[in-house]
Amino acid sequence: MANKKNNNYVSKDNLGKNVSQNEIKVKNKENKDVSNQKEKKEVKEKNTSPKDIILRIKNASYRYSDAEEDDYALKNVSFDFESGKLYAIRGRSGTGKTTLLSLISGLEKCTEGEIIFDGKSLKDMNLDKYRNSDIGIVFQSYNLLPFMTAVENIVLSMDANGLKIKNKKEKAIELMEKVGLKASYANRKVLRLSGGEQQRVAIARSLSYNPKMIIADEPTGNLDKQTETEILDIFKKLAHEENKCVIIVTHSQNVCDIVDKIYDLKKVQEK
Ligand SMILES: Nc1ncnc2c1ncn2[C@@H]1O[C@H](COP(=O)(O)OP(=O)(O)OP(=O)(O)O)[C@@H](O)[C@H]1O
Ligand SMILES: [Mg+2]
Repeated sequence: MANKKNNNYVSKDNLGKNVSQNEIKVKNKENKDVSNQKEKKEVKEKNTSPKDIILRIKNASYRYSDAEEDDYALKNVSFDFESGKLYAIRGRSGTGKTTLLSLISGLEKCTEGEIIFDGKSLKDMNLDKYRNSDIGIVFQSYNLLPFMTAVENIVLSMDANGLKIKNKKEKAIELMEKVGLKASYANRKVLRLSGGEQQRVAIARSLSYNPKMIIADEPTGNLDKQTETEILDIFKKLAHEENKCVIIVTHSQNVCDIVDKIYDLKKVQEK
């Protein structure tokens, strides 16, 4: 029962203690503030977590088919990657970096665990379509066709990926210019380009179908420091200015110095 006292009502709280109406008002306000904060936090978490994660590696393990039963190349790896960020995956030789890229690119399937791209498990996706539209791959050895010209290599990739646009050649030259290659190089055979120039063509080729994610295996491994810096600048711009998720497998400290996040892989038996 509430008593009236100086316009300040006194009643029992839920533990049976006498409390004034003012105290109740303060408590109600506090409760409301806490619940508002909780709501705000929940909305924030909802907006920042799974939405921005483009790629999630969840407890992934991989064992090659010809390996012993417990000889895993990768064991229980869990990494998250966001759009608009640049990542390095670092680890000594044999720690499974290339294996992990094969899993991410859908060339191999996890023995255990799973890979989720844009909220969908690779297990439930058409992997040809995924590789032809969502993900661009840059190899250490460039993997270009040496007797074809730079522009032909890029157009070939557009054709192989079923890109239906007019003026593929012009688009290829545009991509070459974007990665710092003059248009005059367009008709030069890849064989006659330097290592750094070939790597630029390989990056331009990986961009030919505008993928959301780019993965690169030791992309600067064969390049001098200055060229490495220039190539890294291209990757950085793709992440920070074009909102792509860029993942670079590397041994290079230069790469690790400029990325947003480094993931370390350890030998399975060292874990
Ligand atoms: N095709 C294969 N069959 C069986 N085992 C393999 C195969 N390819 C790689 N491995 C093994 O899997 C492990 C990881 O190899 P992976 O090539 O992924 O390492 P990495 O970190 O890329 O090494 P590096 O830095 O030397 O390129 C190694 O122990 C390797 O011997
Ligand atoms: Mg490797």
